[in-house]
Amino acid sequence: MSDIRRILILTGAGISAESGIDTFRSAGGLWEKHRVEDVATPEGFARDPDLVLRFYDMRRERIQEVEPNPAHSALARLDALWRGEGRELLIVTQNVDDLHERAGARRLIHMHGEHLAAWCTACDRRHAWRDTLIERPPCPACGVPALRPDVVWFGEMPYRMGDIYQAVGTCDLFVSIGTSGAVYPAAGLVRDARAAGAATLELNLEPSQGTRWFDDARHGPASELVPEWVEELLSESRLG
Ligand code: OAD
Repeated sequence: MSDIRRILILTGAGISAESGIDTFRSAGGLWEKHRVEDVATPEGFARDPDLVLRFYDMRRERIQEVEPNPAHSALARLDALWRGEGRELLIVTQNVDDLHERAGARRLIHMHGEHLAAWCTACDRRHAWRDTLIERPPCPACGVPALRPDVVWFGEMPYRMGDIYQAVGTCDLFVSIGTSGAVYPAAGLVRDARAAGAATLELNLEPSQGTRWFDDARHGPASELVPEWVEELLSESRLG
């Protein structure tokens, strides 16, 4: 792996599971307790905005109670050290929590948005947001009470796909961590990376739906697998 220069890391709910945030598709996961159509689609929001705002208010509160785990910290360490001699790194997360940045990661894209942001559907501005939205607070910019969670719902376009495809198409190594491979376009990125000649690695509790697309797969908890892999990579590259 020492000829690796450009790394793209895709993360999903599994990397935050050991911090105490429910994943979506595991037994007892979020999509067993709530219908996707009710809480994660524009149609569900139009039908019952109170239900949707309450759901995201609870999730926003929850993520502020938890802490990053060793997997987030290991990626932040890699982000800090993986520099010079043409080295590039990008973490693309499907997660809407802020645990990557709280661990210290900087080169990061939230492709599915962020819990700690609100989007004004009247003036199209986005604001850092920690409080609840159920009371319909006014937008800090335009004053209209039209804020919604800045989270990408099913049927909506994930953020910054141009930047993501560009990085996927030029990476030497694509690593997928803690994601079931059930949701597109994220689930398809491994195939784009392979087609562009990248090596591919899966780190997940169990084989994902797309596990066959990876050259190498290691299965176990992210809090163990990710620090091990990061230390291995740093020492092979004489950066550790
Ligand atoms: P899922 O809940 O679909 O998958 C989580 C994956 O993490 C599963 O494959 C688990 O086996 C694995 N996992 C669980 N605990 C783990 C641990 N401790 N260490 C390593 N892996 C672990 O979550 P995502 O793949 O992130 O989208 O889901 C993708 C998208 O579907 C989400 O971003 C969300 C959801 O609907 C939107 O809301 C738009």
